[in-house]
Amino acid sequence: MAQVELASGRRIRQSSGFALWFTGLSGAGKSTLAAAVSQELRRHGRAVEVLDGDEVRQNLSKGLGFSRADRDTNIRRIGYVAKLLARNGVAVITAAISPYRAIREEVRHEIGAFVEVYVKASLEECIRRDTKGLYRRALAGEIPQFTGVSDPYEAPLEPELVVDTEQEPLEHSAARVIDCLVELEYLGSGTNA
Ligand code: ADX
Repeated sequence: MAQVELASGRRIRQSSGFALWFTGLSGAGKSTLAAAVSQELRRHGRAVEVLDGDEVRQNLSKGLGFSRADRDTNIRRIGYVAKLLARNGVAVITAAISPYRAIREEVRHEIGAFVEVYVKASLEECIRRDTKGLYRRALAGEIPQFTGVSDPYEAPLEPELVVDTEQEPLEHSAARVIDCLVELEYLGSGTNA
């Protein structure tokens, strides 16, 4: 935990920001996990922002499609905002598919305080869940370039953490994310945020 000295000479603790970068297929559970983890982080007294793919595409990335170039632009924008927030002490959670390894590595390098979490569920499970009804349409050929169906997903090779949403309950995954942040010293243990 960093200490900063105010003009008055008084020293206060300052939380170090970070980007918790969730990557995984559509329907793997990124947004759900982001909601659970953000709640827990707020309970630790942290300022939290969630940058969710679906939401970002409604505003910051409105008009972008799903070609590799557009996805990379989307991820660069999310990475840029995450960097600004993280350097001001915010705990940032991103929840975009971010299917390409190269751009994830680029934003990792840009941000520095970067914790990659592979939110893992098999394609079969995501198709079974089909929370937004998009897999059915993609499989019927109605949505081109759909990740996992007709577009690639490159799973991380060395993420800081893998959570398997098919195997473990949400609370368990959320607790493991928090433990990982404590281990990497982005969070103090106990109530010490
Ligand atoms: S990313 O590839 O650029 O990281 P992002 O997470 O922002 O993707 O958006 C993915 C969401 O957009 C999906 O969860 C889904 O709801 C919707 N979507 C619409 N078309 C596609 C597509 N071709 N591939 C993947 N997701 C799509």
